[in-house]
Amino acid sequence: YAASDPTYQSLLQCLSQSIPSQNASAILFSNNNPSYASVLQAYIRNARFNTSETPKPTIIITPTEESHVSAAVTCSQKVGFQIKVRSGGHDYEGLSYVFGEPFFILDMFNLRSISIDISDESAWVQSGATLGELYYNIWESSNVHGFPGGVCPTVGVGGHLSGAGYGTLMRKYGVSSDHIMDARIVDVNGKILDRNGMGEDLFWAIRGGGAASFGVVLAYKVKLVRVSETVTVFRVDRLLADDANATDVAYKWQSVAATTDNNLFMRMLLQPATRNRRRTVRVSIRGLYLGDASGVVALLNNDFPEMGLTRENCTEMRWIDSVLWWTNIDVGTPPSVLLDRNVNDADFLKRKSDYVQTPIHREGLESLWQKMTELGNVGLACNAYGGRMDQLSATDTPFPHRTGNLYKIQYSVNWDEPGNEADMNYTSQARELHEFMTQFVSNNPRRAYFNYRDIDIGTTETWSYEQGKVYGESYFTGNYERLVDVKTAVDPKNFFRNEQSIPPRT
Ligand code: FDA
Repeated sequence: YAASDPTYQSLLQCLSQSIPSQNASAILFSNNNPSYASVLQAYIRNARFNTSETPKPTIIITPTEESHVSAAVTCSQKVGFQIKVRSGGHDYEGLSYVFGEPFFILDMFNLRSISIDISDESAWVQSGATLGELYYNIWESSNVHGFPGGVCPTVGVGGHLSGAGYGTLMRKYGVSSDHIMDARIVDVNGKILDRNGMGEDLFWAIRGGGAASFGVVLAYKVKLVRVSETVTVFRVDRLLADDANATDVAYKWQSVAATTDNNLFMRMLLQPATRNRRRTVRVSIRGLYLGDASGVVALLNNDFPEMGLTRENCTEMRWIDSVLWWTNIDVGTPPSVLLDRNVNDADFLKRKSDYVQTPIHREGLESLWQKMTELGNVGLACNAYGGRMDQLSATDTPFPHRTGNLYKIQYSVNWDEPGNEADMNYTSQARELHEFMTQFVSNNPRRAYFNYRDIDIGTTETWSYEQGKVYGESYFTGNYERLVDVKTAVDPKNFFRNEQSIPPRT
């Protein structure tokens, strides 16, 4: 970037008033810096937003200290640029690093320290840390503690915890944001606030409402949870083409998975497959049980005999090894692999979500198999709710999907051919399946999971209350109103905004 470029110069000059100018230039990557492309691409997890047409930031700001974040917030406003805050970059629609107006990225990857206090069963974790780093640090301190967060270790703490965050401990302990005890946030005036300073309304909003509408989260203090020394994982696969019973398994899973023992989490994957060159569907059930193999075999032989779980399907291991197992890393790999930030390569992908509140009947499942084989590329990951999720109220945090939901569906399609034609083909398959599922899923509002960002639900151009309500009610149901109130109080001029942010009342 030319040293004479007025935007770069104004930003540098402003930052230098609070940071020594040498440090300020060291944290800025303008778009003619030789490292600009690699810094930008390091945390892009969806190839759809890594093309020559993708709008790029004018400058990437990479703070190494909390005070740099404050300075970046005030100086970006002074030079008239928007900022997109990026922690792990896993936003499915790229909203942390793409925007339609001139913008900077505030990239948090350097702010990734984690301190564990086992005597207090808590941890402070900076938002640029990954979930894998958090799990690894907990394990280094204790083999009977864990944290109820997501399955993919490279997901960033900043986006994940502020948008709820769930994984295999959800039925026992709820979602990640249920375990936030304190936070440090930079507000629109550049002030650093903790829980006391920000007050309970803002503290409520950033535990599931998405922090991007309200400020920049520097760090969260979280409560750790207890896990047993030995846990059991299992996987059972049924191919519809080989086994007529597969539909019964899928049917029964829907009611058992949400009502069985809280120590058991079961995910059901429904995936298009081929058998003898004919399209079919694979029903796979993967589970984590906080206990030993004989316990889960006895439990499921009683609750779910149709699945036919045997001791041979099960593997006992430490909780930290189950974290690797869930993300398809070979058992026996040292847990330090969780510190690797480059494990997943970025495919082209599209995700959508739904909530199921009454089991889909057998004929409904048959019609789903038919639709899936017709389309050919879209899979469903069904994640069981119930347990702890039934004990929390819909208004405790902005994340409202508690009692009454049997499971959440994630629709998923990945592809590796670049170009608009492929994009249109695969994304329209996901939309078509989502449309087909309308008859089976929640309605009024049709619910969606905020961390499974999906811009098809609606976007805003004017940041009006009405436009925001469309996606706001899908993600947050009645909590949308309180989120709008918080936004109005903390950022009335709407500096912190994106295509699906919470608007202030005007
Ligand atoms: P990213 O940096 O893209 O941020 C996401 C949003 O949060 C953006 O709007 C961003 O501006 C904002 N933001 C980020 N940091 C912020 C900060 N410090 N302050 C304020 N705003 C901030 N989810 C889940 O619940 N369970 C799971 O198992 C998985 N698994 C999974 C696997 C893979 C491969 C992907 C790509 C995604 C998931 N997810 C998931 C979804 C994930 O939880 C969601 O995308 C999170 O928002 C990602 O957080 P990042 O910090 O990585 O995203």
